[in-house]
Amino acid sequence: MMSPMPGVASESEAMGEQGTGSKGRNAVLVFLLAISVFPAFVVAVEEKPLPFIVLHGIGDECRNQGLYEFTNFLINESGAFGFCIEIGNGASDSFFMRLDKQADLVCEQVKKIPELRGGYNVVGLSQGNVVARAVIEFCDGGPPVHNFVSLGGPHAGTASIPGCSIMSLCKLADALIRLGVYSSFVQNHLAPSGYVKIPNDLAAYYKGSMFLPKLNNEIASTRNETYKKRFESINHLVLIMFQEDAILVPPQTAWFGYYGENDFTTVLPPERTDLYKEDWIGLRTLDEAGRVTYIAFPGDHLSINDVQLKKFVVPYLRSSPIAPSIDWSSY
Ligand SMILES: *[C@@H]1O[C@H](CO)[C@@H](O)[C@H](O)[C@H]1NC(C)=O
Ligand SMILES: *[C@@H]1O[C@H](CO)[C@@H](O)[C@H](O)[C@H]1NC(C)=O
Repeated sequence: MMSPMPGVASESEAMGEQGTGSKGRNAVLVFLLAISVFPAFVVAVEEKPLPFIVLHGIGDECRNQGLYEFTNFLINESGAFGFCIEIGNGASDSFFMRLDKQADLVCEQVKKIPELRGGYNVVGLSQGNVVARAVIEFCDGGPPVHNFVSLGGPHAGTASIPGCSIMSLCKLADALIRLGVYSSFVQNHLAPSGYVKIPNDLAAYYKGSMFLPKLNNEIASTRNETYKKRFESINHLVLIMFQEDAILVPPQTAWFGYYGENDFTTVLPPERTDLYKEDWIGLRTLDEAGRVTYIAFPGDHLSINDVQLKKFVVPYLRSSPIAPSIDWSSY
């Protein structure tokens, strides 16, 4: 065997003569040699973080300046390979394509990206979080999701229709809503109808909603253990809530907290919901294993600044397989 370091080569050959396990010892020696000659290289290989993807909210597009900078900021700060995944044609499909179809498209994309094969982290923005969760739960044969950082996700539903930034699309959305949010036409043609959950109309929700009851394993007769197994297999879940969120009603939905039936005033914290208590999707399992971090920021929907991103999001995009420790005292 050729070696750039003759001295080491002869030493490993000598060890090889001693019998069994020589290949293993040779490999160890070559590795030790590599470390001593190229320490920086080895460190770089070992610490290359998993890649991450960004899934955006309603009305947004990957090519928009804000999202582009957000993604680049995370890339710069984490050192990870990362990119925003576009679903269909962007803003318009984020409004009008069913969320399970959106998740199917993401599922197909992540399966095709070779860099993601060993697993990846996800950063979700708003509606992008329920798409992300649908990818984790429903994507057959997809690469594993490691950390999932959720910023302002309507995980337990929303009791109002999300506000709009693109007016023409909003008018169309409004017109659709008037047809009845749980009608099959609206459920099929208006993405956010998939996570609307009106607390005083739950019977209609269970009957008509095509997305969230399935995602949250809410209906006993159709509950699927596979969704739970997949969700509880992620490494770490970070749930970021914006306390003055005017888009998500109530803001605590970002933590899986929600109203009880027929009650618009009391918000149950996550651990008092049936989803948690009966562990429909594994949230309780993750939480009891110390693998959920609940974070609350003051301010409106997605109002997060660079300092907060650096402190609360970027650490989960670095390679550490263990949850990073965060110093809460300064926040
Ligand atoms: C990321 O880093 C590149 C290269 O240093 C720089 O040009 C760019 O402005 C940075 N972007 C952000 C959003 O930090
Ligand atoms: C549960 O979901 C898995 C994965 O999508 C699927 O293969 C399986 O058939 C589902 N089980 C039931 C009982 O629907």
